[in-house]
Amino acid sequence: MSRTYIEDLPGTVGQSVTLHGWLYNKRSSGRIRFVVMRDGTGLVQGVLAKGSVPEDLFNRFDELTQESSFSMTGVVRREQRAPGGFEMDVSELTIIHVAHEYPITPKEHGIDFLMDRRHLWLRSSRQHAILRVRHQVIRSIREFFDGRGFLLMDAPIFTPAACEGTSTLFETKYFDLGSAYLTQSGQLYGEAGAMAFGKVYVFGPTFRAEKSKTRRHLTEFWMVEPEVAFNDLNDNMDLAEEMLEHIVQSVLKHRMPELQTLGRNVAMLENVRRPLPRISYDEAVAILLKNGTAFEWGNDLGGTDETVVSQQFDRPVMVHRYPSAVKAFYMKRDPENPKVALAVDVLAPEGYGEIIGGSQREDDLDLLLSRIKEHSLPQEAFEWYLDLRRYGSVPHAGFGLGVERTVSWICGLDHLRETIPFPRMIYRLTP
Ligand code: 4AD
Ligand code: MG
Repeated sequence: MSRTYIEDLPGTVGQSVTLHGWLYNKRSSGRIRFVVMRDGTGLVQGVLAKGSVPEDLFNRFDELTQESSFSMTGVVRREQRAPGGFEMDVSELTIIHVAHEYPITPKEHGIDFLMDRRHLWLRSSRQHAILRVRHQVIRSIREFFDGRGFLLMDAPIFTPAACEGTSTLFETKYFDLGSAYLTQSGQLYGEAGAMAFGKVYVFGPTFRAEKSKTRRHLTEFWMVEPEVAFNDLNDNMDLAEEMLEHIVQSVLKHRMPELQTLGRNVAMLENVRRPLPRISYDEAVAILLKNGTAFEWGNDLGGTDETVVSQQFDRPVMVHRYPSAVKAFYMKRDPENPKVALAVDVLAPEGYGEIIGGSQREDDLDLLLSRIKEHSLPQEAFEWYLDLRRYGSVPHAGFGLGVERTVSWICGLDHLRETIPFPRMIYRLTP
C-alpha cells in the first residue's frame, strides 16, 4: 500500500500528493479558502485560491461540513503558520461523504454528552494524544518483558473461581457446568506458567464488579502480570521499578508532543528513575500519623491515605509488608512477622495512588490450604493451583500493573474514563 498520510508530508515537499481524510476545520479570507484535513496521523491545511483553481473546485468548499470525508491532491509546501506546519495548494478535491451536522463542536460539552458520543469523541486531538500514550505504554511493557526472555502467557477470561476476593465477581451462565466468572486477574494461571517456563507475563483484560464510582475504578481494565519462579519480595520490587522506569522513559522519549497537547508537566515523570523509595507499611502508617491522619494499624490504605504517603516523595514509592488480613489469600506471610504479608503496592505520585499490586506467593501447601479455608474459598476449584505446591514448589513472586491507572497518571488526567477507548464503569455500558 502506498497511500500518503499527513505524517509523511515532511518527505514530500515540492511533490504533488493525494491525501484522504475528514474535514477538521475550514475558513475563508478574501479570495482564499482554507480546508484543514485530519487523517488520524495529523492535520494539514489545503489552500484554494479563487481564479487560480476551476470554479467548480473552488465551490466545493461550501459543501464541506465538519467531519465530511474527502480526498485532496496538490503540491506540498512547508508553512510555519499552518496547523501541522504544511500547506497544500489544492489542484483536485473529491468529496466522499457530506457529514450530517456534527454534534461535537469546539464549544464546551459536558462529560456525559461526550461519553455518550465516545465513538465520535475519539476523533479529537486530546483523545488522540491519550490513546497514543496508551499505545506507547503497552508497547513499552511488551518490549520490556520480551527483551528479558519472559514468555507471554494468555490466561483464560472465563474462570471457575475468584482470585482477588469473591465480592467483585461478574457471573455468567456456562452451559451445563453452572457458573463461570470473568477473570479478576490472570495471576493464578501466571503462577502455573512460571513453574513451567520460569518467567512469564500475562497481559489481558480483567473484570471487577466493584460498586466504586471513583475516578480510579473501571469494571473492565487491562493488567500486565509478570510472575517469576525463585523471585522473592525484593526481586519483585527490583523488577517492578525497572519496568516502571522503562515505561515512563519510553513515553517521554516517544510521546512528548502528545504530553504537550495534554498540558502535562513532565518534571515528575522525568524523576521516574531507579532506585524508587521503598518503605514498609509501618513506615507509611508513621507518615500518616505525623501528617495528622487518624489511621489505625491494620487498615488498608485508602485513596486519601495513599495521597498523603506519596506526597512525601518525588517519584513513585513502594510500600511493602501490609497486614496480611487486608491482603489476598495467596500472599506469603513474612516469616519474621506473620502479621504482615510479603506484599508490595506501588503508589504513583501527584495523588494517583496505587498502580501496582503484587507479592511473594505462599509456596507451602499446608499454609496455602489453611488460607483457602480462612477465606472460605471452595477448595475443589483450587486443586489445580494447589498442585503447583505439590510438584516442585519454589519461592516465587509477581505483580499486576493496571494499564489505565498508569496512563491516567502519565497523562495527568483526573479520571480513568479517557484512558481506554470504550470505558466500562458501573453506570456505563455504552457505546
Ligand atoms: O492490586 P490488584 O487487585 O492485584 C491483583 O490483581 C494481583 N493478582 C496482581 C498480581 O500480583 N499478579 O490489582 C493490580 C492493579 C492495581 O494496582 C491497579 O493498577 C489495577 O490493577 N486495578 C484497577 N484498575 C482499574 N480499575 C479497577 N477497578 C482496578 N482494580 C485494580
Ligand atoms: Mg491492590
